[in-house]
Amino acid sequence: MSQSLQADPPLLSVEQVEVFYEQSILALRGVSLQVGKGQMVALLGANGAGKSTTLKAISNLVRAERGEVTKGRILYQGQEITDADPASLVLAGLAQVLEGRHCFTHLSVEQNLLVGGFVGRPSRKVLNQRLERIYGYFPRLRLLRKRLAGYTSGGEQQMVAIGRALMSEPRLLLLDEPSMGLAPQVVEEIFEILARLNREEGLSLLVAEQNINIALDYAQYAFVLENGRVVDAGSAAELAGREQMQNYYLGAVG
Ligand SMILES: Nc1ncnc2c1ncn2[C@@H]1O[C@H](COP(=O)(O)OP(=O)(O)O)[C@@H](O)[C@H]1O
Ligand SMILES: [Mg+2]
Repeated sequence: MSQSLQADPPLLSVEQVEVFYEQSILALRGVSLQVGKGQMVALLGANGAGKSTTLKAISNLVRAERGEVTKGRILYQGQEITDADPASLVLAGLAQVLEGRHCFTHLSVEQNLLVGGFVGRPSRKVLNQRLERIYGYFPRLRLLRKRLAGYTSGGEQQMVAIGRALMSEPRLLLLDEPSMGLAPQVVEEIFEILARLNREEGLSLLVAEQNINIALDYAQYAFVLENGRVVDAGSAAELAGREQMQNYYLGAVG
C-alpha cells in the first residue's frame, strides 16, 4: 500500500556530513541529501562545490585521498555506512562511476566490463547473463566488445565505465559528471540509457553534474551545492524554473 511505501526510509540518507582533506581543507560543511528508492536525483554545482567529495564520502573513497568524514553520518537502506569499506558497499548494491570515465585502456571493452562483475565471485554463467544485460542497454558496446578500450571514443569509454559499474548489479548508482567533455548528442544518449535503467529496473541514481540542463531534464529531484553546502533543493521542474540556476552553474552566486 502507498502508506507503507511512504513510511520506508530513503534508500540513501546523507546527514549533516562534514569532510576535511588532510585535516585542514574543509570540503563539505554539513551536507544533507536523500535519494528515495527508484529515484533519479541530481547533485548540481559549479567546479569545486563539493560534488565529487559528496559521492566519495558516500562510497567511502575520500580516505584514499586523505580525506575524512569528521561530522554527520550516512545511511544506506536504513543502516549506517559512514565507515563501511568500499568493497562491502559494492556487495550491498552501492556502486560508483568515478569522474573522468576511468577505463583500463589496455583491456578490451568486454574485459573492462568483466572487471566490474567479479565482486561476490559470481559464476561464469551469471557473468555472461550480466554482460548480455549490459549489451542490451548499450548495443554499441556489444559491437565494440573485442576492441581495446583505449581505442574507443570518449562517449564509448563513459559507457564502458557505466557498464562496468552495472556489472555488480547495483541498487544505487553514483555517477560523477558523466557528461563531462562529451558532445551533446552523446550526453543525451547516455542519459536516455540511465533514465531507462531507472524506469525499467527501478535503479536509483545520484548523478553529480555541472550540466544543469541535461541533469534537470532527466532527474526527478535535485540538490544544489555551493562551497560545500546544500543551498537549494527541489523537484527538477521547480529548479528548472529558477533564474538563479544558471548562476550556480557559472559559480557566480556568492
Ligand atoms: N584530494 C583532495 N585534497 C585536497 N582538497 C581537495 C581534494 N579533492 C577536492 N578537494 C577540495 O575540496 C573542494 C570540493 O572539491 P570537489 O568535491 O572535487 O568539488 P566538485 O566535484 O564539485 O568540483 C574543493 O575546494 C577542492 O579543492
Ligand atoms: Mg568533481
